[in-house]
Amino acid sequence: MSKLKHVAIVGATGAVGVEMLRCLEQRNFPVGELTLLASSRSAGKKMKFRGEDVVVKELTADSFVGVDIALFSAGGGISKEYASHAVKAGAIVVDNSSAFRMDPDVPLVVPEINAADLKNLPKGIVANPNCTTAITLMALYPLHQAFGVTRIFASSYQAVSGTGAQAIEELEKQTRQWAKSERKWDDVRLAKEHVNVYPHQIAFNALPQVDSFLDTGYTKEEMKMENEGRKIMHHPKFRASVTCVRVPVFRAHSIAVSAEFEKPVTPDAARAVLRKAPGLDLVDDTTLNQYPMALDVAGQDKCAVGRIRQDCALDNGLAFWIAGDQLLKGAALNAVQIAECL
Ligand code: A2P
Repeated sequence: MSKLKHVAIVGATGAVGVEMLRCLEQRNFPVGELTLLASSRSAGKKMKFRGEDVVVKELTADSFVGVDIALFSAGGGISKEYASHAVKAGAIVVDNSSAFRMDPDVPLVVPEINAADLKNLPKGIVANPNCTTAITLMALYPLHQAFGVTRIFASSYQAVSGTGAQAIEELEKQTRQWAKSERKWDDVRLAKEHVNVYPHQIAFNALPQVDSFLDTGYTKEEMKMENEGRKIMHHPKFRASVTCVRVPVFRAHSIAVSAEFEKPVTPDAARAVLRKAPGLDLVDDTTLNQYPMALDVAGQDKCAVGRIRQDCALDNGLAFWIAGDQLLKGAALNAVQIAECL
């Protein structure tokens, strides 16, 4: 087989699709041919790859002839409908949606953790994990290897980029709308007509809802940490109680984690482990007010971990804060890293 690959991006015009294109270029992925696919609304639009214009085509069942690797990021419905067409045409699918993540015949992969799971692809599909889960595991998994994690309690502070291009635009518009009005800090509530993507205004707000609610009171997003975490870490007893919060940040997620381990753990021992962990920066000097921040990790391939301290409410407990670019490690970069492993 040729070393150069025919790569397709499904959802190329979306927030993640654009980053996939950029990652392929920046990481010098051996792209021989590139097919950019989106809805009929975007057909004919041009996107740049290595200085050349590539015309976006409408996604159809016949879009995958000759494609080696298809990166999907157009939502679960599109993945469910079109991944089989891509596989039938001979492509390996790397899917960023939640459509196949819990399918036992589909590996769910963070390359720094379980790249070995890619050896077996019974369906020709690999799933890319939930963004908050992937970012959290970048620190939690090395700690698990050293100390054996039993359970975590976590809260996420998730950027609007996780909802896609329309949500990014909504935060931008709402913020401009308020700034333009020259109203004061105690008068930030906007008219209903400015609220479209989320159930409530996102600018100047914090929404304790990411995805839809389950009967248990948790959201679907909150349960991904436990379910996907178990599968990725090969740790069926891992437990996670999570509250996911959408915050008015454009493009990086942060997660506050309290983790309990089987073995005794100290902040210094944890730092020694995390300093060596792949894809992770240790930013942890409270004497200089240094800790990971969404603004600093935005646009960065690496996640950052800090605020490491002994958890005062758990036995063998550690509290920490991790931040990562949701569009990159939480989505596009991880997908392209999977393609590199393949
Ligand atoms: P389009 O830009 O043509 O709507 P985001 O997550 O940022 O909202 O992006 C979603 C991506 O999925 C976009 O590239 C979007 O294309 C694409 N998409 C949405 N609906 C379809 C569809 N029915 N067929 C193909 N691509 C779609």
